Amino acid sequence: MTRHGELYLRDQIPPRSIYFEQGRFGRLFPSLPPFASDTPSVRDRLSKLGASGGLMDAKDAGNPNNPNNPVNPKITAGFTFLGQFLDHDMTFDTTSSLERQNDPESIQNFRTPLLELDNVYGSGPAASPHLYDRTTRGKFLIEKLDPQDPSSKDDLPRNSQNLALIADPRNDENVIVSQLQLAFLKFHNKVLDLVLENGTDPSEAFLEAQRLVRWHYQWIILHEFLPTTVGETVVQDILFGKRRQFYSWRREPFIPVEFSVAAYRFGHSQVRPGYRVNKSGFGAGLFTPPENEVDPNDPNDLRGGVRAKRRFVDWDLFFDFGDPNQRPQEGKKIDSKLSTPLLNLPFGPGLPGVGQQTRSLAQRNLLRHLTFSLPSGQAVARAMKSVTGAEILSPSEDLSDLKDLGFEKETPLWFYLLKESEVLANGETLGPTGGRIVAEVFIGLLEGDYKSFLAQDPTWKPTLGKDGTFTIVDLLKLAGVAPQGTV
Ligand code: HEM
Repeated sequence: MTRHGELYLRDQIPPRSIYFEQGRFGRLFPSLPPFASDTPSVRDRLSKLGASGGLMDAKDAGNPNNPNNPVNPKITAGFTFLGQFLDHDMTFDTTSSLERQNDPESIQNFRTPLLELDNVYGSGPAASPHLYDRTTRGKFLIEKLDPQDPSSKDDLPRNSQNLALIADPRNDENVIVSQLQLAFLKFHNKVLDLVLENGTDPSEAFLEAQRLVRWHYQWIILHEFLPTTVGETVVQDILFGKRRQFYSWRREPFIPVEFSVAAYRFGHSQVRPGYRVNKSGFGAGLFTPPENEVDPNDPNDLRGGVRAKRRFVDWDLFFDFGDPNQRPQEGKKIDSKLSTPLLNLPFGPGLPGVGQQTRSLAQRNLLRHLTFSLPSGQAVARAMKSVTGAEILSPSEDLSDLKDLGFEKETPLWFYLLKESEVLANGETLGPTGGRIVAEVFIGLLEGDYKSFLAQDPTWKPTLGKDGTFTIVDLLKLAGVAPQGTV
């Protein structure tokens, strides 16, 4: 199974020239120097920083309530997986591999990164027919967790080897993101029904349903995901105040490496070591350590790629459905620690592109800073300070833990932004620098997509929710995957 991160376009390292303006990836700060030279000593020190048992290890394996790994009272656990899903939407590319082979360096920008649910729709019913139900025009194929039992819960369609038949295989990496993908398939199917009930010509119904699904999804990103993650003030400032100050493009939007290699990997710090998945008793650690044997038909962890009756999600354990008797689990605080299972990933032994063998996600993220010549956190924070007003973290206090490794003055951007959240935002949202990068890129991608509601009709209000708004909980309810009694 392809995992989250494995479709990463490692070979596309944007040049630092300020005249470079093509390709899927680019830079926010092309003129800032790399935070360190790529030497064996720097690699060694980065590896130490990200190692299992090192400074970034929350040491919380097997103990989700470890005080080293505090929960975030402001962000429920579901947003972590919505964040992962969004990453897959941005970085998924439906360009055929043949086209890519013809242009291995991707100098030509075949497809702009957009938030348009390509990871759900693939190339549409004509070009990706295996995703769709042949008996009902324009609907996605849905299957049962137990094909012999029609009353069992729904699952993604799977082939005879349990590989999910979905546009982006990364959305079956764990059971939670897998069930979120299912919710989007069912949401589309429901919206298609509504569009047909409203009398839309069946030949136009698919495209109309797709537009509505995309616009409601984009509304959630702009009005719920971003305010929750970076704070409402930053979003308002980018939409109506100072606007985008750092992220712009000449031809088409691109993904800046400061975002994909550092700022948006903040989500790795939100992941908890394990979750309670449903109220029928299924809860487990995220991954079983690779050396332990597991039952391949129903492992006692949260990996995807498996079909078994208990592997479904009760969404009120992840998002707030307003029931005072059923509070959702919180996410982990956004801080400079990662849950231990992420430092010993069970997959992806190699780290192609930088030639390291590591199972630690923190090491992978940090070593990528060298591959992509990222500037230091301090340099980026200073370059953005006139807009963000962010205090620069102090080497002798905030970053003193890094002194032994020699990174306290020139800190890898990902680590710096995590620390900024910890010190300046109490780990409850991203800090001012990280938040501004994330919000500018998301809003820029929406503004740069001529089909998005922001570009087509900025005054548009959702039509499927209540009072002109729409939340992820509304989406789950309409999709028919909300817990009983909440609809
Ligand atoms: C649920 C647990 C998660 C796991 C196990 C995971 C694992 C990974 C792995 C192995 C990579 C490739 C690292 C490399 O070699 O450079 C990666 C990349 C990445 N991850 Fe995650 N991740 C998780 C959740 C998240 C979340 C919640 C977010 C953001 C909110 C996120 C954002 C990213 C980004 C931006 C990249 C780089 C782009 C890409 O390859 O898609 N991840 N992740």
